Amino acid sequence: MKIKNVAAFQIYDSRGFPTVEAEVELDNGTTGRGLVPSGASTGQYEALELRDGDKARFRGKSVFRAIGHVNGEIAAALRGVEVSDQSAVDQMLIQLDGTANKSRLGANAILSVSMAVAHAAAAEAGRPLFEYLGGGAGTLLPLPEIQILGGGAHAEWRTDVQDFLVIALGARSYGETLEMTHNVYHAAGTIMSERGKRFGLADEGGFWPDYASNEEALDTLVQAIERAGYQPGREVAISLDIAASDLYDETTGKYRFRLEKQEFTSDEFADLMIGWCRRYPVISIEDPMADTDWTGWAKVCAAIGKTVQLIGDDLFTTNVQRIQRGIEAKIANAVLIKLNQIGTVTETMEAIRLTQTAGWLPVISARSGETEDSFISHLAVATNAGQLKVGSFARSERMAKWNEVLRIERLLGSRARFEGGNIYRHFSP
Ligand code: PGA
Ligand code: ZN
Repeated sequence: MKIKNVAAFQIYDSRGFPTVEAEVELDNGTTGRGLVPSGASTGQYEALELRDGDKARFRGKSVFRAIGHVNGEIAAALRGVEVSDQSAVDQMLIQLDGTANKSRLGANAILSVSMAVAHAAAAEAGRPLFEYLGGGAGTLLPLPEIQILGGGAHAEWRTDVQDFLVIALGARSYGETLEMTHNVYHAAGTIMSERGKRFGLADEGGFWPDYASNEEALDTLVQAIERAGYQPGREVAISLDIAASDLYDETTGKYRFRLEKQEFTSDEFADLMIGWCRRYPVISIEDPMADTDWTGWAKVCAAIGKTVQLIGDDLFTTNVQRIQRGIEAKIANAVLIKLNQIGTVTETMEAIRLTQTAGWLPVISARSGETEDSFISHLAVATNAGQLKVGSFARSERMAKWNEVLRIERLLGSRARFEGGNIYRHFSP
């Protein structure tokens, strides 16, 4: 079926910031919609999110130029194009833009259309998105990585570490991971209320803490797991996203904790990260070092790369060239996958495939600014990625994704697979 028209509109993300929604209409009237998320702790190698920068409107954050590109050049190029050839559509979008980082048309303009095309093609084929994207091969339900406390750029630096998350290793089903996480999340809230340290919710729905140190947050997380009745490290393990690029000063080469007013050399910071992974029941750590500090990454990977999942987010920015370099340098063992870091569905799926081919683990991820689109839930199942990171267990832009996997589980019925903590079988403590 051919594309009849493409149109874009300004909508608002979970922080109330403007973002792009594209609608693709096919010749037979079928439509598909793509809604673009937005990061706060963005990596410097990400594709460019085009914002107008006009201080008179939405404090510079409006996306009317990106929308104009969809309604103008992109719509003109895609009219009459076959909707079911996603990679041809994405290739056209990449070529039309013509830059390495999608800075001319904007990655937000391009991704909105790329996602809308996939949604429309799935609707036209009469198949759920995960089945359409995976060609029927996607049957693995993801193990969720769920935020309990939020800090860093998502909570005005109340902690330096961005995400304190948990992974329910002991769950026997996807549904059980949600029940266990629910228990830990509310146990954490209770502990923080009792101590007068609960200050609302951070951007991704995790509790916004008031702590004197990052380790106080880590201790609280362990206590919450225990209070919920689970054995830390066995039934429920800790996962951290340090987002260390935000703590790194390129000019001095030092890492800085604002909360504790401490500075570290790369070597000292790597030691701290390695120490946390050994002292606490940590199964996964993301961006422990900055995206330009490959020496620091190599040190961390040599020390704990066989025992802990080591995820590159800002390090790789869902970019196959960067992932390839990382695989050759043996610098990590997992890749965070975000659609808007690279800007098309096809390139995102290529990044997932490259990660899997190398024997590394992909983690499909939301952004801190999200929408009600649950594309990534489908992407995780379609590609048998095995893991999904969406933020916390609160706020509907997050719950939309967790809930969509429940629906996919029902649709798959007896074909649904779940590996749970077994996904980490290659890591030995
Ligand atoms: P961001 O945070 O969307 O603000 O970049 C998410 C992450 O760092 O994983
Ligand atoms: Zn991250």
